[in-house]
Parts: sequence; structure tokens; C-alpha cells
Amino acid sequence: MGAPAQPVTARNADPVSKNGKSLGGKGELAKAFLLVFTSLGLYMSGDYWYDDSLYKPEEGFGYWIGLVGGVMMLLAYIYSMRKHMKWLRFSGILSHWLRIHIWLGIVGPYLIIIHTGFRLESQNAKYAFYSMVAVFLSGVVGRYLYSRVHFGLDGKRAQLGELQRMLGLDAKDQQSVFAVIPGVKEELDRLEKLVTFKQHGVWTSLRVSWQARIAGIAAYHRMTRGLRAHLAPIAAQQQWDPKDLAIAERQVKSMLREYVTAVKTVARFRAYDQMFMLWRMVHVPLLFLLFIAGVFHVVYVHMYSVSEI
Ligand code: HEM
Ligand code: HEM
Repeated sequence: MGAPAQPVTARNADPVSKNGKSLGGKGELAKAFLLVFTSLGLYMSGDYWYDDSLYKPEEGFGYWIGLVGGVMMLLAYIYSMRKHMKWLRFSGILSHWLRIHIWLGIVGPYLIIIHTGFRLESQNAKYAFYSMVAVFLSGVVGRYLYSRVHFGLDGKRAQLGELQRMLGLDAKDQQSVFAVIPGVKEELDRLEKLVTFKQHGVWTSLRVSWQARIAGIAAYHRMTRGLRAHLAPIAAQQQWDPKDLAIAERQVKSMLREYVTAVKTVARFRAYDQMFMLWRMVHVPLLFLLFIAGVFHVVYVHMYSVSEI
């Protein structure tokens, strides 16, 4: 293994980053909660202060703010067109569209909340409102999951193989460093096998993500137990002084910790990747529902409520 000349530091300050953009973390979760609570706060304070002498949904300010909010939500659908229709590439970078999309997807529903006058009476308005809330909440969840599998909003979707390489999870790397310590290679192989399985679905990947956390801690303790005794013969052979032996022990522990963290990161990434795919399957039908319920509401109110506008 050689004398521990250089201290082992993390391979990279943030190993899961590309072009300065990292995969989302806890900050993204905080943003999602903030958005949901702000929206709830808006609705509840509006409900408390609203008085129909201020405005009504069917006329003037209430009507126009509904129209603007509705149009903004319609514009939010353009992101999907830009994404799927290649000939629309001239209209700009997809990531810019996603930013605009999120902005429209937040401001549009806020305007609609104001439009409703904080009351839900007719069935058609209820359907439109509930499907809007479902799409909004689903968007927030999607934004969070998106951040966990993309390098920033304008980043590319991370690929499993690429992530494993970035984290140094390849066999060559571990063999050269750890092969000299008995049992370590087997432990690392076991951990790696746990997270690089082929067949997977949401539940399997979630289960494996938790298993990897627990197995990682247990494996780390097994691998570091008696580590100094394993290093002692090497130290004697290479005539290290006792200080070097202590440094070597610290270095090996730090590398093992880094490796275990890498395994956990890969397992977590796979779970988020699966959840993101599942999210799409839920999100798309909700989008249809909102579109149909919104159009039905607008047609209905113009047929039966607002003949004189
Ligand atoms: C998805 C978007 C929309 C939602 C969720 C929504 C929701 C609501 C709600 C909750 C009400 C309250 C009265 C009730 O419960 O019947 C309402 C009333 C009304 N909305 Fe909307 N609205 C939306 C978009 C629009 C748009 C784009 C327009 C106009 C172009 C519009 C026009 C009206 C009118 C005229 C009323 C009064 C109807 C009445 O009192 O019978 N709404 N809307
Ligand atoms: C109620 C208004 C909203 C509407 C109508 C809407 C509509 C859509 C549509 C049509 C797509 C594209 C699906 C596809 O073709 O793959 C989409 C994706 C997405 N939306 Fe929204 N959305 C809304 C609100 C939001 C909000 C509030 C957020 C975030 C806070 C959000 C974040 C996202 C994300 C992250 C994606 C996936 C992007 C991707 O994978 O390319 N949306 N939404």
C-alpha cells in the first residue's frame, strides 16, 4: 500500500456534481414545503378576509383575474409541446421553458384562487378547482423529484453508469486500495452488488435504498474492526513510525466511509429515478383532467351565469 504520504480527502468537494450543478438535496425539499405552505396560507388568509362586496368571480376584477390565471395555466402546457415537438426547438432552450413553466404553474393557480372568491359552490367549479390543486401539488412533487435526478434545472438527467463512475464506484478503484486488508473487498463487492441490480421497480429500489443505508453502516463497522492490527504487518514491513500507522488507519477509514456513502448515493438515486418515472404516470392523466374540467367550467359559466359580460 505504500507509506501514507498524502492525506486522503474526498475525491471531490461535491462528488455528485457536473459543471458546478449538483443533484438536488434537502434544500429542494424545504422549497417544496415552503411553496405548499405559502399556497395554503394564501387560501386561508383570503378565506378569512374575503367579502363579496370586494369583487365577485363572475364580473369585473374577479372575472378578469380568472381569465388571466386560466390563460397562464394554458401557457404552462406549452412546455410540454416544446419538449416533445422537435420543430419547436427554435423557440429557445428547454431549461428556460421549464423555468417559465414553473413560474406560470405557480402564479396561474394563485390568480385562480383569488378568482374563486374563496368559495366552491357549483360542481363544475369544484372539479376544475380540485384538479388544479392536484396538478399544482403534483407539479411541486415532480419538481422535487426532478431535482434529485438532474444536475440543476438546466442540467441533464443523470445516468446511473455516469453517477457510479463519478463516485468512483468501479471495481478497479476499490481493488487497488483495499485488496490488502482481509475481508474488505468481499464487503465492498457485497455492497456494490446490492445497489447495482438489474431488475427494479419503485418498491424494490426504495427497499434497497434503505437496505443500503443499514448494510453500509454495518459493513463499515465490520471493515474497520481490527483495522490497526491488519495494518501493523504492513507498517512493520515498510518501517513506518507509529504516527504514520495512525494516519494510515485514518485514511483507510475515510476512504471506506466515502465508499459506503457512494453506495448509498447510488441506491438513493435509483429510488428517486424510479419515483420520477412513476410520477410521470400520475401527472399526465391529471393534466388531462385539469384541461377538460377547466374548459368545461368556462363553457358552463358562459352558458348559464355570465350572459351579460
Ligand atoms: C381552472 C381554472 C379555474 C378554476 C379552478 C375556477 C374556479 C372557480 C370557482 C371555484 C368559482 C366560484 C363559484 C362556484 O363555485 O361556482 C368560479 C366562478 C366563476 N368562474 Fe372560474 N375558475 C377557473 C377559470 C375561469 C376562467 C378562465 C373563467 C373565464 C374565462 C372563469 C369564469 C368564472 C365565472 C364567470 C364564475 C362565476 C360563475 C358563477 O358564480 O356561477 N373561471 N370559478
Ligand atoms: C397548475 C399548473 C400546471 C400545469 C398545467 C402543468 C403542466 C405540465 C405539463 C403539461 C408538463 C409536461 C409533461 C410532459 O410532457 O412530460 C409538466 C411537467 C412538469 N411540471 Fe408542470 N404544470 C403545472 C404546475 C407546475 C408546478 C407548480 C411545478 C413546480 C413547482 C411544475 C413542475 C413541473 C416539472 C418539474 C415537470 C417535469 C419536467 C420534465 O420532466 O421535463 N409544474 N407540467
